Amino acid sequence: NGAAAGFPEPFRLFVRESVESTNDEVRELARMGAPDGVVVLAERQTAGRGRRGAAWFSPPGESLAFSILVKPPEPKALWPRLALAAGLAVAEALESSGLTAGIKWPNDVWLGGKKAAGILVEAGADFAVVGIGLNVNSTEFPEGVRGIATSMRIEAEREFERGEVLAEIIRRFAIRRAQIDRDFEELIAAVRVRCVLTGKQVALLTAGGPKTGIVEGIAPGGELLLRTTDGLERLMQADEVRVLGD
Ligand code: BTN
Repeated sequence: NGAAAGFPEPFRLFVRESVESTNDEVRELARMGAPDGVVVLAERQTAGRGRRGAAWFSPPGESLAFSILVKPPEPKALWPRLALAAGLAVAEALESSGLTAGIKWPNDVWLGGKKAAGILVEAGADFAVVGIGLNVNSTEFPEGVRGIATSMRIEAEREFERGEVLAEIIRRFAIRRAQIDRDFEELIAAVRVRCVLTGKQVALLTAGGPKTGIVEGIAPGGELLLRTTDGLERLMQADEVRVLGD
């Protein structure tokens, strides 16, 4: 359970051997009335998924794949900010392991210019599921992401204890998510200093099609500040950003 795992209140850990997706497991538990803070970790996901319908591959025993149930007090409108809080928590946990982490807004976590973790937040009627996939000791990646994916082990040239990394992420997440409605400015400041997109030419994949421009930073509300080719500075929300070249 949570205390044994070194988790702060109210987080409680449930470990499953094999599931399709931990996000679905947590969604199901939420529907059955599970409380805020339930964490489901799976040793194996048979249908792990990423944003925009992509598959998420997490080799059993080498990576972390887990989902956190979050129930209000955070008002629903603030739920996109959960993704920022989660990405930051992962980045900080990696740093406490001695690595230098970057955040690719909104919520990918980078090590050495490659992706080490991804986050998929899905909202229900009165809850949100924060799914986190982190490459801990993985050394092999599927063909499609080879060259753009990395792991803690590859970057640090040593292995890590997955339980310790998990507990550190949960501890950091407990602190950062409390800042969503109380001290968002501090949360954003911590994201900003880790943002790997600032100054880069990017394409944002939005519902209305791609929008290209130069990233000027992150706005106080957590949106990306994009200077578009027409010279206007826009506040953007998106779940996917493509870096177009340095
Ligand atoms: C992304 O980068 O596109 C997000 C990846 C999210 C993967 C995690 S692994 C645990 C949880 N369960 C899922 O099916 N997906 C998330």
